[in-house]
Amino acid sequence: MDYKNYITVVENYPKEGIRFKDITTLMQDGEVYKKAINDIADFAKDKDVDIIVGPEARGFIVGCPVAYSLGLGFVPVRKEGKLPREVVKVDYGLEYGKDVLTIHKDAIKPGQKVLITDDLLATGGTINATIELVEKLGGEVVGLAFMIELTYLDGREKLNDHEIFTLMQY
Ligand code: PRP
Repeated sequence: MDYKNYITVVENYPKEGIRFKDITTLMQDGEVYKKAINDIADFAKDKDVDIIVGPEARGFIVGCPVAYSLGLGFVPVRKEGKLPREVVKVDYGLEYGKDVLTIHKDAIKPGQKVLITDDLLATGGTINATIELVEKLGGEVVGLAFMIELTYLDGREKLNDHEIFTLMQY
């Protein structure tokens, strides 16, 4: 399946010069969304994954259905101030900004095998911060799965040690 046919590229959003990859048009098509999730779940199947982790907000759109399909739990990584209990946190850089990500301190048990999911790999800042949070809790990242990779931003180079699965590349 050519998933790119279901992505809408929006020029100059959220600011001049950015070509935003809008996944909502893919999600609106139930058959295509399901196939995308199944492809990611298939990648995870031989990895003995214990739990899925995804950063807000679009990481939930990918990670939650993958977790459901594999019968696994899902752990949300959220921006600062959004999780109600004790968290660990990390600063990270964005393609267009800077922020703090957090995870509940008891969300992952030491030694658990973690698949991290998100909609998009751009600079890799978000996913690097998410890896850092998982590792702070003693989790072992066994794979990274995205719908989209922006290869021209070289995010993959920051993620050398990890196996990466993507549905499409720009
Ligand atoms: C977007 C996207 C990824 C991240 C990719 O999220 O969903 O999480 O940026 O960029 P990076 O590889 O350069 O870090 P955003 O922070 O815009 O949040 P959202 O999902 O809540 O819209």
